[in-house]
Amino acid sequence: MLALLAGVSPHLAAVEARMGRVLASRQPRVQTLIDGLLPFHGKMLRPALLLLTAEACGGVRDPHIGYGAALELIHTATLIHDDLIDDADLRRGKTTAHVRHGNTSAVLLGDYLYTHAFDLAAGIGDLRALQRLTATTNTICAGELHQQLAARDLDCTEAEYDAIIYAKTAALFVLAAQAPALLGNASESARQSMADYGRAIGLAFQIVDDVLDYVGDPAKIGKPSGGDLRQGLITLPLIRYIEMHPGDPEVGVLLAKKDGNHPLIATLIEKVRHSSAIQAALDEARGWVEQAQRALECLPLSIYTQALSDLTVTIVERAM
Ligand code: IPE
Ligand code: IPE
Ligand code: MG
Ligand code: MG
Repeated sequence: MLALLAGVSPHLAAVEARMGRVLASRQPRVQTLIDGLLPFHGKMLRPALLLLTAEACGGVRDPHIGYGAALELIHTATLIHDDLIDDADLRRGKTTAHVRHGNTSAVLLGDYLYTHAFDLAAGIGDLRALQRLTATTNTICAGELHQQLAARDLDCTEAEYDAIIYAKTAALFVLAAQAPALLGNASESARQSMADYGRAIGLAFQIVDDVLDYVGDPAKIGKPSGGDLRQGLITLPLIRYIEMHPGDPEVGVLLAKKDGNHPLIATLIEKVRHSSAIQAALDEARGWVEQAQRALECLPLSIYTQALSDLTVTIVERAM
């Protein structure tokens, strides 16, 4: 766990326990599948962000634990489905669900997590919070779909990339940061500031993830790298590379080939990796980090707001 999350670590443990409780099945075969999933949690960033925001706004209450668990269940479900779509074999340092259990069980496991997340959030008894969770899940699915439809299309603009990463990633960070305001009585301005913070940190986070797909060490990030280009995904490092090398015909030719194993793909990954496109993409992420920090200025200074601020910096430092 990140050191700066230590202040909320007992609450994070409660979130994890809640996830285990809601996923529990009387059917031993299903329970075995769940037992294989839960110990390999990731960074728990979304519930951590929710809990830090809750502490910064007056304290953690039981609905925050339940809602944080629901967010992490949604996130984990998207990853199980995403790994199947990407045919990725490693996640959180471990063999992915579809490789271990087959595609059908992985789809159903993702569905099992989604539906339990909705059930858990419904049990909190706040219709507005439930509606935001379902709407955000719709947004994530639309973002993943948009990404697939824009793959291999060199007409995919930076504005389109921004819309995709907002939908597939930042929207859930917005909900995590806003949840305490949603579940409490925060002012409209506090709610807006937390949405601005979530959006900015979420966009920075996905840009850095897209940079790590070019420069990351799979052993450190716990998942494969190089997959985005192999799948024809046009992410910010590639967008910047194309801008900087307008005469490079290889990009269009390779994207059109639809062959992720083409030997020239590895060459292009190396070219992007060693180009200034990487720093240019990270500069963009740093810009969002500054915006996230500005959005926090509306909250009273505490160790929790400091942790929310430090978290933004940690996100970009992962790729440096
Ligand atoms: C991975 O998210 C998916 C993206 C949005 C880039 P995380 O990096 O938060 O995944 P885990 O939960 O820590 O494994
Ligand atoms: C995040 O994007 C996926 C979802 C929001 C489902 P990525 O596709 O970049 O995530 P990783 O790199 O596989 O973790
Ligand atoms: Mg992926
Ligand atoms: Mg990625």
